[in-house]
Amino acid sequence: MEKNILITGGAGFIGSHTAVALHQAGLKPIIVDNLSNTSMEMVHGIENIIQEKLVFHPYDCCNKEQVKSIFEQYPIHGVIHFAAFKSVAESVLEPQKYMKNNMGSLEVMLECMKDAGVNNLVFSSSATVYGEPDDNPVTEDTPFKKAASPYGETKQLGEDCIQSYCTENIHFNAALLRYFNPIGAHPSGNIGELPLGIPNNLLPLVNQAAKGERVLKIFGKDYNTPDGTCLRDYIHVMDLAEAHVAALRWVFGQNGTCQAFNLGQGKVDSVLSIIQNFESINGVAIPYEWSERRPGDVEQIWANASKAKNILGWETKRSTSDALRDSWNFAKK
Ligand code: UD1
Repeated sequence: MEKNILITGGAGFIGSHTAVALHQAGLKPIIVDNLSNTSMEMVHGIENIIQEKLVFHPYDCCNKEQVKSIFEQYPIHGVIHFAAFKSVAESVLEPQKYMKNNMGSLEVMLECMKDAGVNNLVFSSSATVYGEPDDNPVTEDTPFKKAASPYGETKQLGEDCIQSYCTENIHFNAALLRYFNPIGAHPSGNIGELPLGIPNNLLPLVNQAAKGERVLKIFGKDYNTPDGTCLRDYIHVMDLAEAHVAALRWVFGQNGTCQAFNLGQGKVDSVLSIIQNFESINGVAIPYEWSERRPGDVEQIWANASKAKNILGWETKRSTSDALRDSWNFAKK
């Protein structure tokens, strides 16, 4: 029987690409998304790619009655929990909003999974759990520093909460996926990164600058890095999506395990090199100006992703250049 996978936040950037990857792998995505930071365009974009009507419910994951109704309507075999607020800057201004939403939805999810006897969870965590690391690349054993933002705190607490839940529920399995910097889009251009309002992340802003809609600000030119700009481990969103399929298959084969996995390319690009690479691959100019450092930014972080390779059998297949090309292909549409 086809396995039903509940994807919360499934109309968002990573969720939508994961829905496509699940479908390709013969699993059935059931999407819940309250559309607080995305739109139905993404749902239709997924449908265009998979050529099938999706099961979609516009529910809020903090609403227990709504989430419970999903478990009552469908046999659910596993859950991928993306639904969360993700703006680092907004979280500094409104920490309570982040705590309430990100922790509240996780609590509801765990309660509903328990009631329905569903034991397999893939959790959307982040490299932000490491704070500013002393050494790079970071492994899953690198100790957490104080999170640089309330958003980061919700990811640290979320992981803690799931670890404790696993200890109490001996058959429960979870993969905590620590994403580095997801960029890119599905190569068809049907889905991509489309936040509502003013974006926070680099690539949506680069795309807007390429379209002449803004001048990109580069946050900081005097970091202790080769070109003075921050270093990040950018990962193509389709590679990331495929990692979720690998993680699900892994949790299905476990009996009472909770483990974290870094998901990155294991290499770095600077902000300046991203801009230059984007310009040369796509043949467009990015107007930019130098700006102050952004509060809460870490100078450099990149992944040792060998645990995901060894245990999940997953590794990246796409380059930063592929991601920059696909990102612009989506944005142009
Ligand atoms: C952060 C988190 C990441 C989280 C993501 C969610 C860390 C290390 N990473 O990513 O885990 O999932 O937020 O939003 O905390 N930049 C500019 N100009 C801009 C925008 C960005 O120069 O207009 C630079 C930033 O300073 C940074 C890089 O681009 O060096 C990437 O920024 P962004 O895309 O916002 O991601 P992170 O802050 O790295």
